[in-house]
Amino acid sequence: MSITTIAAFSTCRIIIVLACLVFYSIADANNGASVQLHNNSAASTQASIRKSRKNKFCSFSFLPFRSPLRPPIPSTLKLLMQLPSPHAPPSSPPATPPPQPSAATSAPSPNQLILADQRLAVVYPIIQKFKSIITSDPLNITETWVGDNICNYTGFYCDHPPDNSSAIALASIDFNGHHLSAPTIDGFLDQLSDLALFHANSNNFSGTISTNMSKRRYLYELDISNNMFSGPFPASVAGINGLTFLDIRFNRFSGSVPPAIFTQNLDVLFLNDNNFMSNLPTVSNYHISYLTLADNKFSCPIPSDIYKTLSALTEVLLLNNQLMGCLPSELGLLKGVTVFDVSKTMLTGPLPFSLACLEEVEVLNFAENLLYGIVPDVLCELPNLANLTLSDSYFTHVGTACKSLIDSRVLDVRNNCIPTLPSQRSVKECTYFFAVPRICPSIETYETIPCTPPHFR
Ligand SMILES: *[C@@H]1O[C@H](CO)[C@@H](O)[C@H](O)[C@H]1NC(C)=O
Ligand SMILES: *[C@@H]1O[C@H](CO)[C@@H](O)[C@H](O)[C@H]1NC(C)=O
Ligand SMILES: *[C@@H]1O[C@H](CO)[C@@H](O)[C@H](O)[C@H]1NC(C)=O
Ligand SMILES: *[C@@H]1O[C@H](CO)[C@@H](O)[C@H](O)[C@H]1NC(C)=O
Ligand SMILES: *[C@@H]1O[C@H](CO)[C@@H](O)[C@H](O)[C@H]1NC(C)=O
Ligand SMILES: *[C@@H]1O[C@H](CO)[C@@H](O)[C@H](O)[C@H]1NC(C)=O
Ligand SMILES: *[C@@H]1O[C@H](CO)[C@@H](O)[C@H](O)[C@H]1NC(C)=O
Repeated sequence: MSITTIAAFSTCRIIIVLACLVFYSIADANNGASVQLHNNSAASTQASIRKSRKNKFCSFSFLPFRSPLRPPIPSTLKLLMQLPSPHAPPSSPPATPPPQPSAATSAPSPNQLILADQRLAVVYPIIQKFKSIITSDPLNITETWVGDNICNYTGFYCDHPPDNSSAIALASIDFNGHHLSAPTIDGFLDQLSDLALFHANSNNFSGTISTNMSKRRYLYELDISNNMFSGPFPASVAGINGLTFLDIRFNRFSGSVPPAIFTQNLDVLFLNDNNFMSNLPTVSNYHISYLTLADNKFSCPIPSDIYKTLSALTEVLLLNNQLMGCLPSELGLLKGVTVFDVSKTMLTGPLPFSLACLEEVEVLNFAENLLYGIVPDVLCELPNLANLTLSDSYFTHVGTACKSLIDSRVLDVRNNCIPTLPSQRSVKECTYFFAVPRICPSIETYETIPCTPPHFR
C-alpha cells in the first residue's frame, strides 16, 4: 500500500485559489499539490499534515459561509496516528523565564489602544489574560502579542465575520507546535466567540475543556491534539453545530464518549490515544469519514451492527483497546474499508469468511489476539490485499492461497498453532489454549459469504 502521499486534493483547491481563501468557510487551502509523507520522522509527518490544513489568510473576498466543500483529508490515518512523542522536552531549555505580569509592564487597557474593530477590543483583554497564565514559551511566541494589531500577533488571524462584512474579527488561531504551556485554556477558547478555527496541536496545555463552548457559532475545526488535557470528553463541543473537524488525540481524556458526537455533522473525529472506555458506540446514520478510536480502553465485543456505525469509513482502527468476544460476520459488510486493524485486543473465535467481501481492503491486521481456527483461503485471494497480519494468535490451518501469501510475505502467521509452519507456538502453549472451551454467537454464519467475492465472478 502506498503511504507516500496524502489526499488527492479535491477540486476545491482550484476554487480556493481563484477565490482566495478566508477563514469563515469550510474550505481549506493547501500550498502544494500534495503533502509528501516520505519522511519517516513522525514530527515532520505531523508538521506537513498540519501545514496542509493550515488556512492562509489571503484577502477579504468571501466564500459562502457553509460551503459544501470539505477540507482535504489525509488518506492514511495510520500515519496520522503518529505524533511527535508527546511532550518531549524542547531541544533547548526555555530561554526566557515565564512572562511575569507586573504593574510596571502590564498591558495597556484596550481604550488606550486603537483597535481596528469593536470585536477586537473585546478580544484584546482575553488574549492578554491568557498570555499572563502562560508558564512556558520557549519560542518567544507571546513576545509578539503586544500592541493594538491583534491580527498581526503570531498565531492569530483575522477576517470579516459572516454576520457583518465590514467588521473585522479574530477568525483563526494556529498555535500548532508553539510549545506553549498553560494550566488551562478555559477563559480563552470559550470566550472567543467569532473563532472559526482553533489549532493547538503539540503544545503543553492542560486542564479540562470548558462546558461553555456550545455557542461557538462559527467554529468548524478544533484541534487540541497532543496536549495534556484531561477530564471527561469535552461534551460541550457536541453542541457546536458547524463543527466538522474534531481532533483530541494524544491527551488524557477519560470516561465515555457521548454518542451524540457520532450523530453530529463531523467529517473527522480523532479520539485515539486517550483513556476513553465503555462500549464501542453503535449509532447509525452518521457521516464521519475519518474516525480513530485506537489506543483507548474501549471494551466489550464489537457489536454486530458495527457496520452501521462504521460503514462510511475507509479505515477502521480499533487496535490496542480492550475489545473482547468474537468477530461478528457483519464485518464483511464494511464494503469500502481499505485498512482494518483490530490488533492488540482480546478478540477470540475464528475469522468469518465474510471478510472475503472486503474487496477494497489493502491492510488487515488481527495480530496479538486470541483468534483461532483456519485462515480462510477466500480471504487470502482478495485482489488488493497487501498486508495480512495474523501473528500471535492461535490459528491452526492455512490453505494454498494463504501459503503463497506467506511466501510473498504479505501474510504473517508467526507465533500461531499451525503444525506445518515454522516459528509457531509450542505444542504445550497451544494445548493449554485449546483446553479452554470458547463459544462464539451465531457461529453457523461464520462460513457464509454474503457476497460474490471478486475472484469468483
Ligand atoms: C525529514 O525531516 C527532518 C525534519 O524536517 C529533516 O531534518 C530530514 O532531513 C528529513 N529527512 C528526509 C529523508 O527528508
Ligand atoms: C508542561 O506543563 C506542566 C505544568 O503545566 C509543567 O510542569 C511541565 O514542565 C511543562 N512541560 C514542558 C515541556 O514545558
Ligand atoms: C527568546 O528571547 C530571549 C530573550 O529575549 C532570547 O535570548 C532567545 O534566544 C529567544 N529564543 C528564541 C527561540 O527566539
Ligand atoms: C507585523 O509584525 C511584523 C513582525 O512580526 C512586523 O515586522 C510588522 O511591521 C507588523 N505589521 C504591522 C502592521 O504591525
Ligand atoms: C458592522 O461592523 C462595523 C465595524 O465594526 C460597525 O461599524 C457596524 O455598526 C456593524 N454593523 C452592524 C449591523 O452591526
Ligand atoms: C460563557 O461564555 C459567555 C461568553 O461567551 C460568558 O458571557 C458567560 O459568562 C460564560 N459562562 C460561564 C458559566 O462561564
Ligand atoms: C504489515 O503490517 C504490519 C503491522 O502494521 C507491519 O508490522 C509490517 O511491517 C507490514 N508488512 C509489510 C510487508 O508491509
